[in-house]
Amino acid sequence: MTVREEIEQLKKEKNAVILAHYYVRPEVQELADYIGDSFYLSKVAVGLKEQTIVFCGVSFMGESAKILNPEKTVLMPDAHADCAMAHMADEETIREMREKYEDLAVVCYINSTAELKRCSDVCVTSANAVKIVKALPNKNIFFIPDRNLAHYIAELAPEKHFVYNRGYCPVHQQMRLEEIRKAKEDHPEALVLTHPECPGEVLELSDYIGSTSGIIEYAQKSNASEFIICTENGVRYELEKRCPDKKFYFTETEPVCEDMKTITPEKILHVLRTGENEVQLNETARAEAEEPLKKMLELAR
Ligand code: 13P
Ligand code: SF4
Repeated sequence: MTVREEIEQLKKEKNAVILAHYYVRPEVQELADYIGDSFYLSKVAVGLKEQTIVFCGVSFMGESAKILNPEKTVLMPDAHADCAMAHMADEETIREMREKYEDLAVVCYINSTAELKRCSDVCVTSANAVKIVKALPNKNIFFIPDRNLAHYIAELAPEKHFVYNRGYCPVHQQMRLEEIRKAKEDHPEALVLTHPECPGEVLELSDYIGSTSGIIEYAQKSNASEFIICTENGVRYELEKRCPDKKFYFTETEPVCEDMKTITPEKILHVLRTGENEVQLNETARAEAEEPLKKMLELAR
């Protein structure tokens, strides 16, 4: 039996379903039952009929699925696949900000640990952050952990007062302006599509800014036929699948999230066989982290 056939058989035997983020390897995306951005995956995770979720993504994604579905088994193909940015905020600063500002909402990017989520008022993803921040009654917003996404939302929600944190995504932070300029010179007709985790100077020269799903949908609907993609290179698989006649370019130094790339079909097979790497959360922490995630799903509806 091939790895794929064995995975399919075990999925049936164990009543399991595979979820995958667009940044994982193409051969992993091919195995997924559901594939999407963080917002889509958190919505899909609620109400699945299968008892076991194999989450092909980094730990905050599996944790979020478990927080929202405590009765389900969530398995991570690689227990070490983590998002560096998810840890770039701290509870003490959150407490300080709550004391310093009246009428403060702590808005937590879903790319964060369960510990940070439980200290927050609402979660957001890059696909719904502007809508949710605007819908909050609070004037003061402490946005954790991502400073780049915070600055991007602040521009679009000028009625709010933002307090910034220092976190960032190492993959998007490293996008080089000169390489994007070079790509534009080489492909003058191409539109620049960018993830809001990129620094402000990259956003400034972009034609569209959005989540990974937003970028893919924009490219699909656009009349343009060439695009420079400023996000992790895993999105190429879905872009080329949906738009076989369009051309997609990345910067010379292709952005790669090494943690996302650690997931392989063999690791999926292993956790399905053994039940290893199950996401475990303390019930008090889980219940507290569920509140801001549920609020996100409500406000984004
Ligand atoms: P999306 O919300 O666009 O899926 O992004 C997730 C992510 O990790 C970006 O670095
Ligand atoms: Fe985290 Fe950046 Fe990787 Fe996304 S690309 S999972 S934000 S390290």
